Amino acid sequence: CGIVGYIGQRQAYDILIGGLHRLEYRGYDSAGVALINAEDQLNVYKAKGKVADLETAAAGKDCSGTVGIAHTRWATHGEPSVRNAHPHVSDSGNLVIVHNGIIENYTILRKQLAKKGFTFKSDTDTEVLVQLIQYAQDKHKCPLAEAVRHALNKCIGAYAIAVLDRRDPGTLVVARKGSPLVVGIGKDNSEFFVASDATPIAGYTQNVVYLDDEQIAVCQPGKELKIIDLKNKKVDVSVKQIDMDLDMLDRGGFPHFMLKEIFDQPRCLRDCMSGRLFDDKVILSAVRNNRARLLSATRFIIVACGTSWHAGLIGKQLIEHYCKIPVEVDYASEFRYRDPVILPTDVVIAISQSGETADTLAAIKLAKERGAFIFGIVNAVGSSIARETDTGIYIHVGPEIGVASTKAFTGQLTCLTLLALALANAKGTVDHDEFVSLTKELGQIPDKIDKLLKENDCIKQLARTYTYATNFLYLGRGWNYPVALEGALKLKEISYIHAEGYPAAEMKHGPIALVDNMMPVLFVATHHEGYEKVVSNMQEVKARGGRIIAVVTEGDTEVQKIADEVINVPSTLAPLAPLLTVIPLQLLAYHIAVEKGLDVDQPRNLAKSVTVE
Ligand code: G6P
Repeated sequence: CGIVGYIGQRQAYDILIGGLHRLEYRGYDSAGVALINAEDQLNVYKAKGKVADLETAAAGKDCSGTVGIAHTRWATHGEPSVRNAHPHVSDSGNLVIVHNGIIENYTILRKQLAKKGFTFKSDTDTEVLVQLIQYAQDKHKCPLAEAVRHALNKCIGAYAIAVLDRRDPGTLVVARKGSPLVVGIGKDNSEFFVASDATPIAGYTQNVVYLDDEQIAVCQPGKELKIIDLKNKKVDVSVKQIDMDLDMLDRGGFPHFMLKEIFDQPRCLRDCMSGRLFDDKVILSAVRNNRARLLSATRFIIVACGTSWHAGLIGKQLIEHYCKIPVEVDYASEFRYRDPVILPTDVVIAISQSGETADTLAAIKLAKERGAFIFGIVNAVGSSIARETDTGIYIHVGPEIGVASTKAFTGQLTCLTLLALALANAKGTVDHDEFVSLTKELGQIPDKIDKLLKENDCIKQLARTYTYATNFLYLGRGWNYPVALEGALKLKEISYIHAEGYPAAEMKHGPIALVDNMMPVLFVATHHEGYEKVVSNMQEVKARGGRIIAVVTEGDTEVQKIADEVINVPSTLAPLAPLLTVIPLQLLAYHIAVEKGLDVDQPRNLAKSVTVE
């Protein structure tokens, strides 16, 4: 979910709606806005669906007011509906709240409040929270912030909230635990902006405060931002500067963010490597400053979810190959719940685009408790995971808006390659010539992606043939096996075609049974180790009538004879092949989804940043 708030002198509605659009990637099942007008009346508008639906619902109504809060929801408790959409209003009609997260003990709290006479209009945990704040306010006869503090002390779970009291329109109270929250401070404290990340704020002010867990902030125009913790202890306010390129947040002439982000990859990877990659060296301050700790690691454990987990699988190969350190890769959600063996000599690498994925965050907290050293590979600057880690490297590919991750994935691979090279160099586990050939080739990758992107029209053409498919198989070996997984995930996410990624050799242990003339099978078959074996697998599919799409190294003639469709990628070294082979897979998924008329940037049921467990 995404939350936005504003308090100041300007009309809040447009600021809130603009902010919601920026946060829509966090969920778009329903949306809502609450405003307090000049007569201290509270107006709340909600709609099922996207922010645009909310705008339609609010059109023509009283949207005036210089203070307001808004929400775009990814449903957890209660189906997506107007009834369950935020903001939620308390029984008295005075308090209103937006919330991102889950109040785990909401059932008990709801029962207790019901006994005290509170009534509930929705199925959400959030409504319980606003009633609890009202209860605290009535009981303690205290200001809003104090009531919020009392209520939050009774809650178990995660939250980022923004709360208003109709009777006190000069105060906006926000709090966080487990879910992100940023407060933007306007000139001379004349106005405050609140949001789940800095993107809705960036156009208004550069000065922001990232709240920490269990902190409550009180925003009152004309006064300094006040922060207290749940124990009512005053917290020092640490103002940070955001440096965000607003152009990056707009589609820049592309029909979808996803396509823009695919085409952004050469530039993004150049940014990611800038100041870090040199012909004969790789400089990562995180490695330089923690050299002893990293070099003495007996094992690396990579934790991540979704696309970031796929990057982790390639990271494992890179680190094992170049640094000769054993690496495990785990889904963060599995790792944290299975009582893993974590040793103080372990280094845990958390990979995350958003830096807010709840499971990944919890996994590193667990690993930290058990003494491991935590290294982050994160895109969102200042995010929770970035702050929780001991050290790390930012991916630096700019905000990723399309729900299906593209440039963050190649950015993660680039960072993992840089990390493996920096460590290997420090450890002396890589031959100098091999090191130099790899750094030089890595530097060439953006140009090669530029070249590859020229295939876009051909891939678009090809995509038209495959909109009929209900199943797809993606196969690859070695370095390209995780690419097969990622290609299948991209297709599932945005085209709703069932797709499986598999190691090519495993095909004969099951998936081959699915192959018939309706089943497209995509092979990633670059000219590297295992190539002949993949070609044999292709023959096996061909013999069973499957349709073959093959991603090959340019100049390949053998596959041409077998495959129905061939996509060429420039030649590169094996460990860098995924940086190229994934590009046509991103484009293929994109064009199939567009052909099918689907909402590429906001596919159904998904959210870009999953801050629930
Ligand atoms: C969600 C997104 C995926 C992403 C995954 C992990 O499922 O839709 O694109 O790969 O979360 O997110 P993270 O921000 O931690 O990389």
